[in-house]
Amino acid sequence: MNDKLSKSEILSRLDESSALNVIVLKTVNSTNSYLKELAKNGTSNETLVVADSQTNGRGRLGRDFFSPSGSGIYMSILLKPEFIALRSELLTVAAGVAVCRALNEISEGTPKIKWVNDIFIDNKKVCGILAESLLDERKGLPFGIVIGIGLNVTTPAHMFPKELSHLAGSVFPTNITRNELITKIIDEFKKIYTSSDSNALIDEYKRYSLVLGKKISFKMSGNTFIGVATDINADGNLVVLLENGKELTLNAGEISLHSENFV
Ligand code: BTN
Repeated sequence: MNDKLSKSEILSRLDESSALNVIVLKTVNSTNSYLKELAKNGTSNETLVVADSQTNGRGRLGRDFFSPSGSGIYMSILLKPEFIALRSELLTVAAGVAVCRALNEISEGTPKIKWVNDIFIDNKKVCGILAESLLDERKGLPFGIVIGIGLNVTTPAHMFPKELSHLAGSVFPTNITRNELITKIIDEFKKIYTSSDSNALIDEYKRYSLVLGKKISFKMSGNTFIGVATDINADGNLVVLLENGKELTLNAGEISLHSENFV
């Protein structure tokens, strides 16, 4: 199967109502960084940048995102507030749900979201999402947001760096090209962010959750806390019932699932 990334194929497959600018690159440092530069220099439209590989793919919390050529989807979409009906703090939740909807259709395994936004299939992380706001420095206000999605499509297990080998996996879909998968994710994402129904979104996010009802741990101010993840609230925050009976709501950071050795 020809799995070459193609701008014309992506454009022809995207939902007709989509007026996205599409840029396809062979390689780039990071699609998020590239798109942020482009936006600073004044691109006015919603823009999608897809690369076949990244030399400096970036993850959350300053981590790298392994981005070899020919086997993954590394893409970033620039959204402007005027095109978004959804509350902007729910955009990463929306991106996670959009990826899960697409993967649910094309993968044998069931996609699950590890709060905040890592997507797992069969206990391996197959996708990460990095959202970055663009600030108007004069006004101190955001003028756009870049949502970066990194998805391991067919990267073989032996190719991942040693430190990721216990954690990372790939989707291995059959009969679907990266171009098709990209458009499925973007179309689903657009359906969600052009709707203001955040309750339905949170309900769907909860259905994909890998962590609800599970024992988790996390670090805060140098201390480790242990508890059970009991809910995800209307803002996408994680509600945790601690071992001492107190309830805490996390709005950022990283949790570990206790039963498995997830990082
Ligand atoms: C994470 O796992 O912490 C988030 C990973 C996000 C990776 C994607 S790949 C496309 C975009 N460009 C980047 O440099 N990062 C995001």
